[in-house]
Amino acid sequence: GSTVLKPLKSPIPPGELSVLEKSKQLAAWSAVDEHVHPDYRVIGIGSGSTVPYVVERIVSQGAEANKNRVFIPTGFQSKELIVSSGLSLGDVDQYPTIDVTLDGADEVDTQLNCIKGGGACHLREKVVAEAAQTQVHLFILVADYRKNVEYLGTNFKAGVPIEVVPFAYAKVLQNLHQVLNSPKASLRMAVAKAGPVVTDNGNFVIDAPFDLEIMKEPYTIMAQIKMLTGVVEVGLFCHMARAAYFGNQDGSVTVKW
Ligand code: 5RP
Repeated sequence: GSTVLKPLKSPIPPGELSVLEKSKQLAAWSAVDEHVHPDYRVIGIGSGSTVPYVVERIVSQGAEANKNRVFIPTGFQSKELIVSSGLSLGDVDQYPTIDVTLDGADEVDTQLNCIKGGGACHLREKVVAEAAQTQVHLFILVADYRKNVEYLGTNFKAGVPIEVVPFAYAKVLQNLHQVLNSPKASLRMAVAKAGPVVTDNGNFVIDAPFDLEIMKEPYTIMAQIKMLTGVVEVGLFCHMARAAYFGNQDGSVTVKW
């Protein structure tokens, strides 16, 4: 289903945040208000530019609410965010069952399948998302209006992020080019092309664009990529999210579930 929530009355004076930033904040705040219940103790915190607004809203619940909580990061950025916000840090190996995980997305389709990994964090993000599924299945996406699409790959053209062990990257690239119909798949390079992007796990990332027809069956292509030896994780999260919150330009929030 899908519904549009009325504009939230934001305490931030108009003009202080751009429309895009505001939409991220609205999505994050609405998701926290709906899904971070007072009795939740273990909370997964995803990566990207929308997630700081999730943490902002959680912090605003007050020291008392957060006193007995532990927060599980999906990478370096969210670890820094948790610590600098004065929240308690845990790790998914200590807390393999998470009450709720909130995370960003690069694109989300009508079935709540999504592309993730624009920030190269999708391996840990998928582990922390799955840890939130073990009992109550609470993996919640927060994003701006650009990410709300019918089919994956509509606006996000960079391709499916694929984490690979460095030793196997050339072989996996060849598999993608020759077997899986992604002739433009390429190794993600760091800024200024000084070398490959290296993930928090010491691996490389390949970005593999696919035709829209292929992206209409995200689970199938995800499984095919995952079968390639050397692939550690694929940035396609299929049938995992419980709900997705998108901030809109007019200040409303679209919720898909
Ligand atoms: C990082 C991710 C991010 O969640 C995704 O790229 C969305 O980020 P943003 O909120 O900045 O648009 O998957 O690997």
